[in-house]
Amino acid sequence: MHVDLYERIWMWGAGVIIVVFLGTIAVATVSQGRLPPSHVETIEPTQVRSDPRFAEPGVRTTADGSVEVIVIAMLFAFQPNEIRVPANTPVTFRLTSTDVVHGFQIVGTNGNTMIVPGYVSQFTTSFEPGEYLITCNEYCGLGHHTMAATLIVEEGA
Ligand code: CUA
Repeated sequence: MHVDLYERIWMWGAGVIIVVFLGTIAVATVSQGRLPPSHVETIEPTQVRSDPRFAEPGVRTTADGSVEVIVIAMLFAFQPNEIRVPANTPVTFRLTSTDVVHGFQIVGTNGNTMIVPGYVSQFTTSFEPGEYLITCNEYCGLGHHTMAATLIVEEGA
């Protein structure tokens, strides 16, 4: 089959770009350990409230001064509903669901993960001062559009 020279060049170019893109994912995964923030640990979804990791949802400061936020997602709410954290400080979110798949998107930031029942999702990020909307971005049922919370980032807190 005859393929025109220019067409062959473009086909090879497109092929090289695909290999480079897949390669960056492979390098980030294998050598830097970058994985999606979900599926960090497993948890029994019907026992979330009696599991010591999620017994007290809310914000806590650990011994080394880092901030940890424990969140339970359920139809159709996040617990806690209002989260207050200090600005420009690494905040680690740990989330799980008691029922179906939910989303956790802190609008206007890079904080975003799926929350899958049976698993713990975890990510760490920091914020500029302000008030942020947290929405569920996975369709979870009739009340999906009402499932939201607020993140308040306080300066010098
Ligand atoms: Cu929870 Cu949509």
